[in-house]
Amino acid sequence: MTKNSSWIRKRQRDQYFRLAKEKGYRSRAAFKLKQIIRSYKFIARGDRVIELGAAPGGWTQVVAETVGNNGYVLGVDVQPISPLDYPQVGFVTLDIASELAAKTITDKLPAKVDVVLSDMSPNISGTWELDHSRQIHLARKSFEIAQLKLRIGGNFLVKVFQGSELDTYLQEVRTSFRTVRLVRPPATRASSAELYVLGLGYLGMSEMPQNYRES
Ligand SMILES: C[S@@+](CC[C@H](N)C(=O)[O-])C[C@H]1O[C@@H](n2cnc3c(N)ncnc32)[C@H](O)[C@@H]1O
Repeated sequence: MTKNSSWIRKRQRDQYFRLAKEKGYRSRAAFKLKQIIRSYKFIARGDRVIELGAAPGGWTQVVAETVGNNGYVLGVDVQPISPLDYPQVGFVTLDIASELAAKTITDKLPAKVDVVLSDMSPNISGTWELDHSRQIHLARKSFEIAQLKLRIGGNFLVKVFQGSELDTYLQEVRTSFRTVRLVRPPATRASSAELYVLGLGYLGMSEMPQNYRES
């Protein structure tokens, strides 16, 4: 058996992969978000949500179902995403690390939002510290967008990898939220180093990050 075919077989045996196919979700990751929402109820009907790293759209489907017709979700990814059949969903193709990121998101969604989500991941190199560091960089970019766009009292969920920079990142996020939790939903693969940082109750910030001022 080639390495590739053993990977395909493993994936077919995976219960969340099968469930995602059965229920029509575009990713198995949809179940991680469902589990976090069920435990922490941090997205509500009618909420406006920005979702970073949205392709192929599994989380977007879950958010659209959660917020309902009176809510809205703007999915952002560097890769184009094929449209979803919900009126409350919009997509924009955008690199979050680019200088235009904040302005483009604000042009699409001028008002403050209730929730910022980020499931962004870098291309995995296989070198632990490098991948961890790139992931923390994306998580910092997500935090900057959260600081710019969240209403006071809003919530933030962001993917991180375990590693040496995680504590510093957590300290940064803790300054801006009433409560911060580290969450590992049951649908996470056992072999994965990923966790989610959940910030509940945005407190606001005294200083806007330099690169993210709205002009
Ligand atoms: C694990 S996938 C997200 C899966 C998604 N939550 C779902 O359920 O369908 C991570 C995504 O992050 C995106 N990404 C990585 N770096 C990015 C960046 N700098 N700007 C925007 N998106 C980025 C990737 O293109 C990829 O689609």
